[in-house]
Amino acid sequence: MNRIITLGEHIIQTQTEHKYATGELSALLSALRLSAKVVNAEINKAGLVEDIMGSVGSQNVQGEDQQKLDIYAHRIFIEALEMREVVCGVASEEEDSFIAFDSEKSKNGKYVVLIDPLDGSSNIDVNVSVGTIFSIYHRKSPQGTSATLEDFLRPGTSQIAAGYVLYGSSTMMVMTTGEYVNGYTYDPSTGVFFLSHPRFQIPKTGKIYSINEGNYPFFDKKVRDYIKYVKEDDQSTGRPYSSRYIGSLVADFHRNMIKGGIYLYPGTTFRPEGKLRLLYECNPMALLIEKAGGKATDAHQRILEIQPRQLHQRCPLFIGSADMIDEAMGFIKTP
Ligand code: AHG
Ligand code: MN
Ligand code: MN
Repeated sequence: MNRIITLGEHIIQTQTEHKYATGELSALLSALRLSAKVVNAEINKAGLVEDIMGSVGSQNVQGEDQQKLDIYAHRIFIEALEMREVVCGVASEEEDSFIAFDSEKSKNGKYVVLIDPLDGSSNIDVNVSVGTIFSIYHRKSPQGTSATLEDFLRPGTSQIAAGYVLYGSSTMMVMTTGEYVNGYTYDPSTGVFFLSHPRFQIPKTGKIYSINEGNYPFFDKKVRDYIKYVKEDDQSTGRPYSSRYIGSLVADFHRNMIKGGIYLYPGTTFRPEGKLRLLYECNPMALLIEKAGGKATDAHQRILEIQPRQLHQRCPLFIGSADMIDEAMGFIKTP
C-alpha cells in the first residue's frame, strides 16, 4: 500500500469537488473517523481488560443482549457527533428512539446519521472481526429546528453517504460519498487511515455464498431450493460454491466485496422479515454494493427503494455480485 493519500486529505479532496460543499460533511466524516480509531483501540484490548468483554445483562429495543462494547461504541460515536455539532440528530441500534441534539449549532446541522455502532458484537468474546455501519442523509426538517422522525425514515436512495468500519486483521474504513466506493486501511503505527482501495468494485460474479444455514428448515422453499442448487456438482457453472459465514455482516460483506460472492439473510418462519435492520445495516450496505457494481434486494424490490415505516424495521437481505444476485433471484424472487 502507498502511504500517500490519507482519509482526511481524501475527504477534503472529494468534498471540494462538490460545488456546494461547506465543509460540514467533511467534519461529520472526520468525527466518524476519530470514533472509529477510539473504538478500534478499545476492541484491541478485549481479552486483556476483562471488564470490556461480555454482555451487560440488558437488552436493546430489539430484545437482543447488549454487549459492553455495544454500549461503549454507541457512546463514542454519539459523543463525537454531538461535540462537533455537525449533525442535528442520530439514530442508533442501541437506542429505542432517535437522539435530537439540542445545541443551537447542532440544530443548524444539515445532516442526520443512522448507525450500527458495533456490528457482530457477539463475535468480540471469541476474537473474530466486528464492524461499524453508518448511513448519512440530508435532514428534511428545516435547519434551526430539532430533528424529527421523518428525517430518519427515508428510502436508501436518498442517502448522501454511507460506509462501514471493519475491525479485522487490519482495520479499514470503506465508504461512498458520491460516485465511488473507496477503502482506507488504518496504520496503527501512525494512527492514520490511508487510501488503499480506490474506486473499489465487487467482481461481477464469484463462488462464495454466505448464509446462516442453521436456519435451513425455517426458510421458504424457494430459498431452500437455491441452497440445494449452490451445493450441486456442476463443472460448467463452477458449483458447488464455497460456503463462508463469519456472522458479522461487515466482515462477510467485505470478503465478498473483494472475492465476489453473495450474502443472504432471508426471512424465516419465526422471523418473516429476517434479522437485519433496514436503516443502519441493509441500506448503507446496499448503497455501497450498488456503487461498487453489485446488487441488493429483499427478493421483492431493490433495498434502496423500500419506504421505511419504523426506525428499527428489519428486512430480508440478498446482496453481492450482480450475476450471483440475478442467479439467486431466479429461484427466490417474489412478485
Ligand atoms: P449486531 O451485532 O449489530 O446485532 O448484528 C449482528 C447481525 C449481523 O452482523 C450478522 O450478519 C448477523 O447478525 C448474524 O446473525 P445470525 O447469528 O442469525 O447468523
Ligand atoms: Mn449489526
Ligand atoms: Mn450492532
